[in-house]
Amino acid sequence: MRHFLKVTDLAPGELLALVADAVANKGEESDVLAGRNLGMIFSKPSTRTRVSFTQAAYDLGGHVTFISESELQLGRGETIEDTARVLSAYLDGVVIRTFRQEDVERFAAAASIPVINGLTDQRHPCQALADLMTIYEHSGDLSQVKVVYLGDGNNVAVSLMIAAAAAGMQVTVCTPPSLAVPDWALAEAQALAAESGARVQVETDPPTAVAGADFLYTDVWFSMGQEVTPRKREQLEPYRIDTGLLEAAGENCKVMHCLPAHRGEEITGEVMDGPRSIIFQQAENRLHAQKELLKRLMADGQG
Ligand code: CP
Ligand code: NVA
Repeated sequence: MRHFLKVTDLAPGELLALVADAVANKGEESDVLAGRNLGMIFSKPSTRTRVSFTQAAYDLGGHVTFISESELQLGRGETIEDTARVLSAYLDGVVIRTFRQEDVERFAAAASIPVINGLTDQRHPCQALADLMTIYEHSGDLSQVKVVYLGDGNNVAVSLMIAAAAAGMQVTVCTPPSLAVPDWALAEAQALAAESGARVQVETDPPTAVAGADFLYTDVWFSMGQEVTPRKREQLEPYRIDTGLLEAAGENCKVMHCLPAHRGEEITGEVMDGPRSIIFQQAENRLHAQKELLKRLMADGQG
């Protein structure tokens, strides 16, 4: 039995194979999850993760049970471990979206079914699968690609950086100094890069960072659960992806965003809707990549 709590729960070779299969099997329907029920426990809102996992399970012949965390006895003091043991008897897998990475890890340690991290404050590994898939579709060779993330050094930045490092890419994370990705995340990425030949860089100056980029990537400046402060907004102003910054990047540079976007904040509407944007293809790819993940974790004979 396997979990997917962080990108490195798949070995680099498995990650690359999943990406290639997600492209090859787009639109495929099967019954490999027939009779299986995927639970989804969410304590934060979601449009893409919730609906793409639901559809992915249906496309594979499975069922889905959605549970808002606020409706569980967890909120009344039942432990994560007791909840995990009980739900393991009913379900065949579970996607959890919550705040603390530690809580997902505790759930997985007590569960006897596969547990998938649907986003925590620290990581968003399922997003990174769709990100690699989208970059692969546009490049055909991940090892030849430079991707530059601009903005807040958050969960999405962390998982993108780690996935890119595992895949042998050139990745630059460009943030204000006080909003950099955490040291533990950088260390994880650098360890992977030493094996894969990837190049991992941190940068604080956007025009320097984007030079020669094939892909620019950004995410919201204020993640779910974070306090919105004028100070942070002011710090992040120079990191907005607009036509000027895009001009400073590579000639054929494409633009990515995990969504939801705050148009006019981390990215302009003009860039989002412009010819370089592959943002909505990226969102669609959540479905294709997660189908491959569910097959590997929940289908017969897997894990
Ligand atoms: N990108 C992403 O995870 O979107 P949702 O918050 O809508 O699931
Ligand atoms: N960093 C964002 C990602 C949303 C998909 C958040 O955590 O709110």
